[in-house]
Amino acid sequence: MTEITTLAAEAEKAVAAAQTLDALEEARLAVLGKKGWLSAALKDLGGLSPDDRKARAQMLNEVKDRLGGAIEARKGVLADAAINARLVAEKLDMTLPLGESHESQGRIHPVSQVIDEITEIFAAMGFSIAEGPDIEDDFHNFTALNIPAEHPARQMQDTFYLPKREDGEQMVLRTHTSPVQIRTMRSGPPPYRIVVPGRTYRSDYDMTHTPMFHQIEGLVIDRNIHMGHLKGTLVEFCKAFFETDNVKMRFRPSYFPFTEPSAEVDINCSREGGVLRVGEGDDWLEILGSGMVHPRVLQHCGLDPAEWQGFAWGMGIDRIAMLKYGIPDLRAFFDADLRWLKHYGFVPLDVPTLGQGVAR
Ligand code: DAH
Repeated sequence: MTEITTLAAEAEKAVAAAQTLDALEEARLAVLGKKGWLSAALKDLGGLSPDDRKARAQMLNEVKDRLGGAIEARKGVLADAAINARLVAEKLDMTLPLGESHESQGRIHPVSQVIDEITEIFAAMGFSIAEGPDIEDDFHNFTALNIPAEHPARQMQDTFYLPKREDGEQMVLRTHTSPVQIRTMRSGPPPYRIVVPGRTYRSDYDMTHTPMFHQIEGLVIDRNIHMGHLKGTLVEFCKAFFETDNVKMRFRPSYFPFTEPSAEVDINCSREGGVLRVGEGDDWLEILGSGMVHPRVLQHCGLDPAEWQGFAWGMGIDRIAMLKYGIPDLRAFFDADLRWLKHYGFVPLDVPTLGQGVAR
């Protein structure tokens, strides 16, 4: 046997023995790679006499074709085997129960959940959502809302003031969502029907107060709006939110600078055995402030009070969330403790809708 015949026989064995595509490639390179023995032999042809060259070239090309064919055939077998192995390894049993994915472990914060619930209810009544900046100027947060300079709400212990700007303006962290009433009314002509969820800030800290908290504001401005519309809207809201037709409501005369008349709204509850239950019993619990928008507020927004009237209300979201879901301490809301969130949070795909119910 010539040297080439021996090498070719060995190469054929190596190709047949290759168990992976990598091993096969290695065998191919040993023959046909840049430094492979067949490539070298083909290169050496140039040094032979024309007669020798012809015969040897023919022999080498036959070997090359044979080995090339064997390599291709083996490649096909190994590729099929690799696909079959993958198919077996990746087989999914669709009848198995779902494992816990990262997505399913996440939780929606009760404040976000309650905002979704409330906006869902008001959206169904034809309200849209409006928003405004957390950092407000004095005009929107106070003056336009008919809160005069000497009003206690402006005093240092309540309001967070930012350092005075060069132009003398002193911005504040908004103390309520009411400035968005002003922004909405000044942004275009009525009618308006909006709810405004958002962060609000006051210098206060105990079991039921945090320096940052959440409110939701409502505003309706149209022609011929009266207190009956206010009452009807809030009664409908409470029934849907607490999912009970039995909830009793009390509209108590009150005072806010930006409404006239003003009413605080209580709902009935029981406190038996230290457990608070909404919509049961004869006790009362205050849940929001409301009233007919003050004519002076309308004037600050360029609206003629003889033509346009409306009502507004403001409600603390965090407190309502505590109430509805029996969460005792407000401060834990903002501790970013995952154990707390796992306990009180909501499953992301469990989106509140009126069809499925907004209470859990
Ligand atoms: N802005 C008030 C507060 O933070 C709440 C409020 C009361 C808002 C009456 C209103 C309203 O829109 O009409 O205490």
